[in-house]
Amino acid sequence: MREELLNMREEALHDIEKARDLKELNDIRIKYLGKKGKLTAILRGMANLRPEERPAIGKLANEIKEVIEEEFSKKSNELKEIVKNERLKREEIDVTIPSKVAIGHKHPLTLVLDEIKQIFLGLGYEIVEGPEIELDYYNFEALNIPKDHPARDMQDTFYITEDILLRTHTSPVQVRTMERRKPPIKVIVPGRVYRSDEVDATHSPVFHQVEGLLVGKNVTMADLKGTLITFAKMFYGEERKVRFRPSYFPFTEPSAEMDISCIACNGKGCRVCSYTGWLEILGCGMVHPNVLRNSGYDPEELTGFAFGMGLERIAMLKYGISDMRLFFENDLRFLEQF
Ligand code: FA5
Ligand code: MG
Repeated sequence: MREELLNMREEALHDIEKARDLKELNDIRIKYLGKKGKLTAILRGMANLRPEERPAIGKLANEIKEVIEEEFSKKSNELKEIVKNERLKREEIDVTIPSKVAIGHKHPLTLVLDEIKQIFLGLGYEIVEGPEIELDYYNFEALNIPKDHPARDMQDTFYITEDILLRTHTSPVQVRTMERRKPPIKVIVPGRVYRSDEVDATHSPVFHQVEGLLVGKNVTMADLKGTLITFAKMFYGEERKVRFRPSYFPFTEPSAEMDISCIACNGKGCRVCSYTGWLEILGCGMVHPNVLRNSGYDPEELTGFAFGMGLERIAMLKYGISDMRLFFENDLRFLEQF
């Protein structure tokens, strides 16, 4: 029986040594130490021993059991350690791997607007904003365009109700600003505007304008021209030529439109400028006395100038873009060029 026990010990230790995972190890434990295990089976034979032999065999059996238990627990820890290390390896995060997150960049219209803002901030202007859903009063009436005035046809309007509309230009913010503030006033107003225009290469039903308004004592047309010439040269370059053409807006008197010499042909005449050598970039004029009066100002005491430019047109001329639709189609091949 002694032989039997010692053999079983060797066999058990060998099995434990070879176990490859915890499940296998547990099966081995049951095989030797379980209720129906080998050790129990051997000890059942104790009954056949002579009484004086029993204590020594019992002691040996206990020692063997302890040794097996100990080896079992050592092996179990070893296997658990291996499992843990494998998991850590699988879940490892390498903080040194360069991250390739595409963060994108500003839209060309935003880039151009940023540059325009920078120039006017440098000239001492403040930036203000107004609502895109506007009252007919501010969009038209306060700007000297009564209800059935033919000038309303100049801007094809999206009406919400008879008195509420999507603003067709940023000019309503002129009156809103004058109502709120005391002169002198020196602001630019960037914003989105809406017109029921057909989409084509130079028109969009949603586009952007940048309005300018300066009101104070003794403001003249010379101030208007000086300011806009300065802007054009800072924005398009010192060599750009500028001209003012007489024009008509109900809210300015006199009114003008400003052209710059064609970017494509430098003024010689080409398809881009319809062979005139000039490109229109904005409307402007001296604030009409009625508009000053509608804003609560006395036109005998104060004068001012205003201008309004289309941001898309300005950007097209700056970058040589031939179709306005490109700004709104979100084609990355276009956008990534800026
Ligand atoms: C106006 O909107 C006046 N409020 C400008 C103004 C302000 C004049 C202050 C005097 C004093 P106009 O309708 O011409 O004017 O539009 C101004 C600019 O907006 C145009 O020169 C053009 O660049 C742009 N624009 C007009 N319609 C569209 C359109 N459908 N799509 C894109 N740009 C447009
Ligand atoms: Mg115009």
